[in-house]
This record gives sequence, structure tokens and C-alpha cells, in this order.
Amino acid sequence: MSAPARVLSLAGASVQVFVDSSSACLAAADAIARTIHAANGRAVLGLATGATPEPVYARLVGLHRAGELSFAGVTTYNLDEYYPISPLDPRSYRAYMHRHLFAHVDLPPNRAHVLDGTVPEAFAAEHTAQYDRWIAADGGLDLQLLGIGRNGHIGFNEPSELAVDEALKLPTRLVSLHPVTRADAAREFDGEAHVIPRALTVGVAPILAARSILVLAFGPRKAEAVAEAVRGPVTPRLPASLLQTVPGKVVWVLDEAAAKGL
Ligand code: PGA
Repeated sequence: MSAPARVLSLAGASVQVFVDSSSACLAAADAIARTIHAANGRAVLGLATGATPEPVYARLVGLHRAGELSFAGVTTYNLDEYYPISPLDPRSYRAYMHRHLFAHVDLPPNRAHVLDGTVPEAFAAEHTAQYDRWIAADGGLDLQLLGIGRNGHIGFNEPSELAVDEALKLPTRLVSLHPVTRADAAREFDGEAHVIPRALTVGVAPILAARSILVLAFGPRKAEAVAEAVRGPVTPRLPASLLQTVPGKVVWVLDEAAAKGL
């Protein structure tokens, strides 16, 4: 067990600050494992990709290999996927999930869901609406794992000028990536010009409907977005601030650097 150095209660959220990202990731993985155990192995999890959660998946795989955690009854829904992209493209989030989790645990392939970057564009809206129906048919998400972008995005719900009530209703859908998101993806894509500019993302509404939400952020680059999300006004210009509208559900898991502005 890894314990936070300090815990703050801010704007209805619990903010757990760890001495470093490794101990934070151990705690996040343990929280996921507890969610699975609490559901008698049948948890429905919303999963995230990116650099931040990689050690979380490593720990979950470790628990599985040690015989302490089974995914045989678990169902997962990933947050987002580039569009269009092949699932075999190593930059796809389907490939990421295969590398970091799916290939190493006993999660049934027909319950490890990732939005499909190969769906015909004319059917993208049908596909994303169906994804929301699959989540609902599974009884909703027990836990949503989230990262936060430097621009405050959650999933690929990017900053917008929408009214708050409209933003809260955003479903899973095809979106265009924000310039900050494209800049941050440049490394994976060999330069910003090559970043796939659109994506499928789980919407704000299904994210906020999860029964618990674990947001991970590490390092000084995330400190400003974290501070605005936790302490700033609720605004679709910083989508993570919309998490303040679901008090009691959200746990921020931070290292000291990401918590600097709190
Ligand atoms: P990162 O991405 O983990 O690669 O920093 C987080 C995000 O953009 O949501």
C-alpha cells in the first residue's frame, strides 16, 4: 500500500498528493484493484492511455501475475482513439492497451472495448452512440481513470466556448484535436504535422456518470491545469473543471510537482 503525503479536500474532490509519481501510480492501481474486488470481480472500468497511466497498468499486470487479481469478470471501456487509425498502428490506443494491459491479463477480448478508429466516417456517430449504449447496458462505469491535458482536456473533450449545461451533455463522439493536444502528441507521431488531427472520445456526460473518477496528473507541466480544474471556475474552456459538478466522486492523484498550484 502506498499512502499519500497529504490529502486535501477541495471543491468536493479529494486531492491526494504523493511524494512521487511511482507511489501515486501504486496507489491508483490499488484503488482499481479494490474496485474490482468490491464488485466481486465484475467491475466495469473506464480506462485512459498516455504516458501517465503506464506504471498503473504495469502494477495491475504485476498483481495479476502474482495471482492476486483476475480480470476474467471485468469489462473495460477506453476513453478515446485517434480517427482514423488502424488498431495495428503502434500509435493507436488499441495497440497501447494491448501492449500495457490486454495482452498480459485474463480480460476477455469481447469485454475490452476501445473506440474503433476504422469505422466508416458516415457511421462514426452511430458507433459512438452505440458505445454509450454498451456502457449503459453494462450498468455504467464503476470507476473512470482519467488523465488531464495541459489545456485541461479530459479524454479528447477539448476546451470549447459551449455553455456549461451544453458541455455537461456532450456524448461520445468524433472531435477535432486542440492545438495544445496536437503539440503534445508530436513526439508519438514524429512531429506535429503528422499528428492525426481527429479522434473519437467518450463524452463529458458518460465520464461524469461514472460512479467514481480517479484523475492522475504528474509533473510541473500539469500544475496549472490541475490548479484551474480544482480551484478555478467551472468552465468548458477547461473541461476538467467540469469534474467539480460531481462532488464526492472525484479523487485527484497527484505528485508534489503537479500539486504545486493548490
Ligand atoms: P499524458 O496525457 O498522460 O500523456 O500526459 C494525459 C492527457 O492528455 O489526458
